[in-house]
Amino acid sequence: MNIAITTGGGDAPGLNAVIRSAVLSALELGWTISGLRDGMRSLLVPEDYPEGQLVSLDRASVRGITFRGGTILGTTNQAEPHRFPRKQADGTTVYEDRTADVVEGLRALKLDALLSVGGDGSMAIAANIARLGFPVVGVPKTIDNDLDGTVVTFGFDTAVEFATQCIDRLHSTAESHGRVMVVEVMGRYAGWIALESGLAGTADIILLPEIPYRLDSILAKLKERKSDRGFSLVVIAEGAHPVGQDRAIISGRLGGAAARLVQEIEEATGLDTRCVVLGHLLRGGSPNARDRLYSLRFGAAAIRALAAGHKADMVALDPPHVRYVPLEDATRRMKTVPLDCDTILTARSLGTCLGD
Ligand code: F6P
Repeated sequence: MNIAITTGGGDAPGLNAVIRSAVLSALELGWTISGLRDGMRSLLVPEDYPEGQLVSLDRASVRGITFRGGTILGTTNQAEPHRFPRKQADGTTVYEDRTADVVEGLRALKLDALLSVGGDGSMAIAANIARLGFPVVGVPKTIDNDLDGTVVTFGFDTAVEFATQCIDRLHSTAESHGRVMVVEVMGRYAGWIALESGLAGTADIILLPEIPYRLDSILAKLKERKSDRGFSLVVIAEGAHPVGQDRAIISGRLGGAAARLVQEIEEATGLDTRCVVLGHLLRGGSPNARDRLYSLRFGAAAIRALAAGHKADMVALDPPHVRYVPLEDATRRMKTVPLDCDTILTARSLGTCLGD
């Protein structure tokens, strides 16, 4: 077999560990494996890659990368083949489906199969490629934990761990100054990172996209905390929003949820309030032990899947088992926080305000 591995979408801690695991597993089988640069971009804009779209991968090229953040292959979340932009002579942009070009490009590179590591967008792209008859196995990645087809994805655990460390640090400064600290975390439309880091970091208020918040409920909690402990920690997901209002957006992207809330709190209470946005800090850096293990297991499982003849499946981890989910089904539903899950119930039992 002559295969390629590619990483697409936003990066996440553990991508390099998946690459190393897949490369070593493929080499064990006597296969040839290369890395496709920058996700689908190198197939869609080949003229930007005069040095070649593929990087050949051997033992030496994946040495010492398990603990490295990012991806040695590069990635992008702006190269969706099914709606790729083309500027026209009159300055307007049209969007074209270039999936067939991608498949043609993969065949021209004499590849037998593709291993695609990415989130829901990348899995949808992988499904389109497989539909055109090119074998693909997907590996789910996301710090957001919002992929429904798998119990775990890699990247999430590290993001939660780092967010928790940040919340811990903010505790002491919030307490010293008697302030309200509002911490915004990523997660897109799912509140997993906010819920888990907020609970682990003992936040007083945790706001999720799944529970539109009421300002009066937040203000009541802040008042109680002010007289009791003098300071408060609020963790807000970037996708959280007040009842009846939209998500906060900056330049077309999620962002500004914490800043909006800080303004609302200050206007209503005059409490000294600060805003901290963790943003891409949650995506960078070294994967923790759990994510390294998930990544290594995903990479090896994906090669086993190709060896067993899977042609349009995503590798899913349901510890201690690996399952294979059709790519078509993998992105059918977004995995959001169920309001009756025990983590939510735990937060409520501890008296944490969830904004409702
Ligand atoms: O999906 C991962 C994620 O980090 C989200 O949590 C966030 O909303 C988004 O990607 C940010 O993407 P970008 O890389 O375009 O800033």
